[in-house]
Amino acid sequence: MTFLSLPRAAASLAVAALSLGPIRLGATSLADTTVYAVIPRPSVLTPASGHFALTSRTTLRTDAAFATVARRFALEVEQATGWELVVSRVATRAPGAIRLVRVRGRDTLALGAEGYMLDVTPTGVTVRAAHAAGAFYALESFRQLLPAAIYRRAPIGLIAWSAPAVHIEDVPRFTWRGAHLDAGRHFMPKEFVKKYIDLLAHHKMNRFHWHLTEDQGWRIQILKFPRLTEIGSCRAQTLVGPYVAEPAKRVFDGTPHCGFYTQDDIREVVAYAAERFVTVVPEIEMPGHAQAAITAYPHLGVRRDTTVDVMQVWGTSDFILNADDATVTFMQDVLREVMTLFPGPYIHIGGDEAGKSQWQASAQIQARIKSLGLKDEHELQSWFIRQMDTFLTKHGRRMIGWDEILEGGLAENATVMSWRGYDGGIAAAKANHDVVMAPGSHTYFDHYQSLDKAREPLAIGGYLPLDTVYAFEPVPVSLTPTQATHILGAQAQLWTEYIRDPKELEYMAFPRMSALAEALWSAKPRRDFADFMLRLPAHLRRLDALDVKYRKLDAQVVTP
Ligand code: ACM
Repeated sequence: MTFLSLPRAAASLAVAALSLGPIRLGATSLADTTVYAVIPRPSVLTPASGHFALTSRTTLRTDAAFATVARRFALEVEQATGWELVVSRVATRAPGAIRLVRVRGRDTLALGAEGYMLDVTPTGVTVRAAHAAGAFYALESFRQLLPAAIYRRAPIGLIAWSAPAVHIEDVPRFTWRGAHLDAGRHFMPKEFVKKYIDLLAHHKMNRFHWHLTEDQGWRIQILKFPRLTEIGSCRAQTLVGPYVAEPAKRVFDGTPHCGFYTQDDIREVVAYAAERFVTVVPEIEMPGHAQAAITAYPHLGVRRDTTVDVMQVWGTSDFILNADDATVTFMQDVLREVMTLFPGPYIHIGGDEAGKSQWQASAQIQARIKSLGLKDEHELQSWFIRQMDTFLTKHGRRMIGWDEILEGGLAENATVMSWRGYDGGIAAAKANHDVVMAPGSHTYFDHYQSLDKAREPLAIGGYLPLDTVYAFEPVPVSLTPTQATHILGAQAQLWTEYIRDPKELEYMAFPRMSALAEALWSAKPRRDFADFMLRLPAHLRRLDALDVKYRKLDAQVVTP
């Protein structure tokens, strides 16, 4: 039986049912689990006998629809092996070939946009998918069957590039499998951003949430408002060590921290991500977390009598955008340029942690609240966000914001990113809004990975070990099945107050990202932490080959 003959509605059930078949408890030996160390765990994986040998004479034979995917795979194989594999645009059988076949008709429904089938036999490899993303993910699984050195970016000799025979059928559980990156607190170079996207793609993750503006730095070039980067992308110095509330006790490094992405940089990153089936979701924070913008253009602020620096400490700022028509237009003009750079449907407008003290103290803002017929500052924030929702919707985009956008009334077309636990996401789903889950309890990768904090790099706080990430369940039990369809998926958060550079970021992100990838891709019955831990050592060798400075496993991550 294969789920390919089933209509879409039955497909996921079939996968769940089938998944209990080929890998019954006891049917898969420990050796099998470590040989077929695919992460995230596929829906169906049936071991077979023999091996496929990848050689310099292996050809890729592909339907035209998957030619780009085949060429990219060939290029990456070339980096590790030095071989230039021939890619031919016919998917006919040939001994020793890797075939990429586009399925049609009813099968396309079962496989969906991202599903695939992979057959590895001693005489050839066959990939079947309905769409290019599925073919891409099939080759990602195939790559994981080869020696880890296949991920190297420089040729390595004397390796038998062989993959164990197997049959895999695989579809993801969630459509939003994401990771965020805060480039505001610490600027992350473009080359690293591309590496991060690569790593997400290797984990079959498909959303990159690029947090581009902060109190501590504005990182995206906006042609209409050059001071945003001329002034806003540089802070004079940065707090050293943990946050201290008392200003007199703070120590600074005396070193400017600067950086921004030009629009060319952004186009390059977006194109790079698209080739790997990753959609970039840009975030422009408003009305809070906007101190760097107010530094650049003081008229955006409430306290026009006060100038302010790009923020040099962590925590939240009292500075907030004002709510006059000119500021709304300014931010919409920013979004207009953002839309030209990011073709994806979602634009994130922040909305979190906007302290209201300046709004409360301002006669002008209080008059504005009255003249708009609003009740309080929360309703004013909601009004402000609605201006962005209407604007983005008019331009065919979808607005997404942190769960504070529920306060004062949720904008009509908003999608909610639930970070203060699950409650915001539950409220939004019950009101028929889409939700991306991002609760601190399971997805804040800026939290410590061990309780032995003295032996870890300084972090913002919290404790989020690998097994907790693995156990993450994005769909709250309190939702009805219909409401649950609004949970698009979830994502990791990498806030960078205490993450100063790419290597520190890799340490915080991996292997927790590997655990999250499985929690978001693999159907519930397929998730088993003990099994994941058996596959993880082989996966860590891949991260080694990719030059990722992941956190090593230790006794606190107990293998049951
Ligand atoms: C957040 O962590 N302020 C979304």
